[in-house]
Parts: sequence; C-alpha cells; structure tokens
Amino acid sequence: MNRLQGKVAIVTGGGAGVGEAISKLFAQEGAAVVVAGFPEDPVQAVVDEIKASGGRATAFEGDLSSQAVAEACVQTAVGEFGQLDILVNNAGTFPAAKELDEYPVEAFEYMVKNNIYTAFHMSRAALPELKKTRGNIVSAGSEAGHMGEPNNTPYGGTKGFMHAFTRGIAGEQAKHGVRANCVGPGPIDTAWTHKETGPMSAEMEKQTTEGVPMGRRGTPEEIANVYLFLASDEASYVTGAIFFADGGTTISKSASGAQVPTDLKQEPKGKLDLRHSKDGNTEVRPEDAGHMVRK
Ligand SMILES: NC(=O)c1ccc[n+]([C@@H]2O[C@H](COP(=O)([O-])OP(=O)(O)OC[C@H]3O[C@@H](n4cnc5c(N)ncnc54)[C@H](O)[C@@H]3O)[C@@H](O)[C@H]2O)c1
Repeated sequence: MNRLQGKVAIVTGGGAGVGEAISKLFAQEGAAVVVAGFPEDPVQAVVDEIKASGGRATAFEGDLSSQAVAEACVQTAVGEFGQLDILVNNAGTFPAAKELDEYPVEAFEYMVKNNIYTAFHMSRAALPELKKTRGNIVSAGSEAGHMGEPNNTPYGGTKGFMHAFTRGIAGEQAKHGVRANCVGPGPIDTAWTHKETGPMSAEMEKQTTEGVPMGRRGTPEEIANVYLFLASDEASYVTGAIFFADGGTTISKSASGAQVPTDLKQEPKGKLDLRHSKDGNTEVRPEDAGHMVRK
C-alpha cells in the first residue's frame, strides 16, 4: 500500500482511460497526485473520487501542449505539495482511423500536438524539479510505436517518438539521478479500442484484439500496475526501458488471439474503482485544437 509514500506525481491525461487508473493507483500507494487534463476531461471527478477514498490529489486543467501551461502544471505540483518526484506523460489522442492517403491533416496535427508536444513541454518543465528529488519520468509508448499502426500510421509514429525520446532522456539525465522509462501497452479497454466510442471500424476492432495472443484487451488497471513499478524505487536500476505490456502482441506473428477460448478472454476484475475508462479523447475536439502546431 505504500510503494509511493511521500512522493508527488503529475499524471497527464489523468482524468480518463489509463490515466484515471494510474492516478488512482498512485494515490492508493501514498503519492500526492496532480491529475492533469483538458478542462472538458473528468479531471475534477477523479480528484474528488481519490479524496473520497482518503487519498491526496489536486486538479490541473489546461492544454499541456503549450509551454506556459506545462510550466504552470509543474508549479502546481510544487506549490501544492512542495516537490515533484514523478512525471507520467500519459496524455494522448486517437482522433482518426484511415489509410494514409485519406488521413485528415487536421487529425494528424491534433495528434502531434497532444501526443508529442505535451511530452516535450512537460518533461522539459519537470526536469529541474526532478533533478532536485532524483525523480523519474514514465511515458506512454505503445506496441504501435514498435510495430507501426496500419490505419493510423501517424499514431504509431507519435509513439515511436516517445520510445526514442525516453531513451534519450534516460541516457542524458542519468548523471543527475533522473530515470526515464516507457510503458508500451497493447490495445487497452478504453474509449479508443471500441467502435462505439472511437474511430475504429468493426473490422479494425476485431483485428486489433485478434492480433493479441492473449485474445483480449488489457485493462487500464493492468497498465497502471506497470507504471507503478517503473515509477517506484523498486525500479531504481531501470532506465531507458520500453516495457511492453501488450498480451504478447509484439512477439506475435499471426491472429493467434482468435484461438483463445472464451473463458481465458475474460478481463480480470481488478481492485480500483474506475469510472472514466471510456471518457477518453477520440476525435478532433475544436475547443482543444486552438494551439495547433501549424500556425
Ligand atoms: N488505449 C489504448 O489501446 C492504448 C494503447 C497503447 C498506448 N496507449 C497510450 O496510453 C495513453 C492513454 O490512452 P487512453 O486510451 O487512456 O486515452 P484517453 O483518451 O482515455 O485518455 C487520454 C487523456 O489525455 C487527455 N489529453 C490529450 N491531450 C491533452 C493535452 N494537450 N492537454 C491535456 N490533456 C490532454 C485527453 O483529453 C484524455 O482525457 C495515450 O498516450 C496512448 O497513446 C493507449
């Protein structure tokens, strides 16, 4: 229960999907958590739910792809809780699923802004504080960053950026006692991987889960468990790792998930009280697109 006792963490995109699970798990393990997201994300709800179960958390709302907002987010952690030990770069979007020659330019720019600029500005702003605490960064990579993502090629590209960016930080910042690692999930049970809540077609959704040897999506809580290990002092010798938690996707050569019997495809129930798994970001939201890259 105390694996992050005394630590202060920022979780970007902490109001929905995997970020909700990371925020709640970190708080349960003793961390004070800045839950950061867009104003229209359920950030305050997650903070209220953490506080109601005895945890410490505060909300930060804004577009983290802007330098000034990212710096204000780091200052919120230091102002409210006195320090910063852990930055989780989890914010991201999945606004389209189209072959490249039909891929909307607007969706590409929205994704670059939200998946890459957020991680750059947040990491840059957090480093001075992380050097003081000998802290660490854990970022959202993906099996898509390793294998590529047909029908959403630029998404895979943004995640490939995260892998190389993380390894660069790990090599560069080790001399300051700062670690940096990446989690590489397979398809997770959030809004993104369901045709009803995201841009995937029925066909893409089927291929996505059948490409997983375990034959199912991972749960947000299963991914949060990996973030917890990498962020904790238990991982004191781990830096520059891309930790795949993907049900075997990156070692699979076929649609082997289709062979898994139904009872083995049941997702574990988990212990966290998650209420925002499907409240994620799956379209170009005009109100968030203000700070676009091409301006
Ligand atoms: N869901 C999956 O199958 C999957 C697989 C591999 C990797 N990942 C990675 O995990 C992370 C979380 O995915 P998810 O499915 O939980 O997504 P999600 O949409 O449920 O949550 C991400 C949150 O980040 C917020 N966000 C995005 N850009 C932001 C910005 N500029 N400022 C503030 N908040 C911002 C979104 O609004 C959203 O609330 C992403 O980085 C994603 O690439 C997800």
